[in-house]
Amino acid sequence: MKIISVESYRKLSRFGANLIAAQIAVKPRSVLGLATGSSPVGIYRDLIDRYRAGELDFSEVTSINLDEYIGLSPDHPQSYRRFMQENLFDHVNIDPARTFVPNGLAPDLDAECEAYDKRISDLGGIDLQLLGIGLDGHIGFNEPSDAFMKPTHVAELHQSTITANSRFFANEDEVPRRAISMGVGGIMQARKILLVANGIAKRTIVDRAFNGPITPRIPASILQLHPDVTVIYSME
Ligand code: GLP
Repeated sequence: MKIISVESYRKLSRFGANLIAAQIAVKPRSVLGLATGSSPVGIYRDLIDRYRAGELDFSEVTSINLDEYIGLSPDHPQSYRRFMQENLFDHVNIDPARTFVPNGLAPDLDAECEAYDKRISDLGGIDLQLLGIGLDGHIGFNEPSDAFMKPTHVAELHQSTITANSRFFANEDEVPRRAISMGVGGIMQARKILLVANGIAKRTIVDRAFNGPITPRIPASILQLHPDVTVIYSME
């Protein structure tokens, strides 16, 4: 595991975008595992700039997102599908048919979860998985628990996550209580992982997750067992 500290969010974003751009350059048909949250936004902006400058081509890329709130339609302002459209997909030449986000309105959620894992394996697995980290150590919506959840599953959000994510909603009551999330199995099978964390508030959890014991109480700690992880942390 490489842990890289940088002094600004701008550098975090530039460095993160470098790794993703390199992945696409080496393998134009890459499968990218993508993430939402505030941390990757700068990376997406940087990738859009590179695309506009003619340096990057998404035409053969496939993307598969980590998670989606249950009960929000794809065009809901806070759905993760909409987040991805606004922050990346609408601004680059990725084929819309090759962008996958779980369906938070699926009538049969278990079937949706199973189909999502099948999709990942049909795609040949994820080449590069981008992750953020929650204040409680969650990745995707894999919340702290007694055991690591391997498959894509329906996750109950913890109160601290609901509170943290309420900044994007009118109030806490509007934050969905459940989400579909890729499990740690799908994440750990990615060939490369890039986790980005920014802000002083994340310092303690980054330290506990990557310098402490591996435990499902801190889901991100399992990444210590992955052979190719880069963590970029900025205190800014
Ligand atoms: C949400 C997402 C996670 C993300 C986390 C941290 O809960 N499901 O994938 O990593 O928030 O977000 P931020 O980067 O805004 O702190």
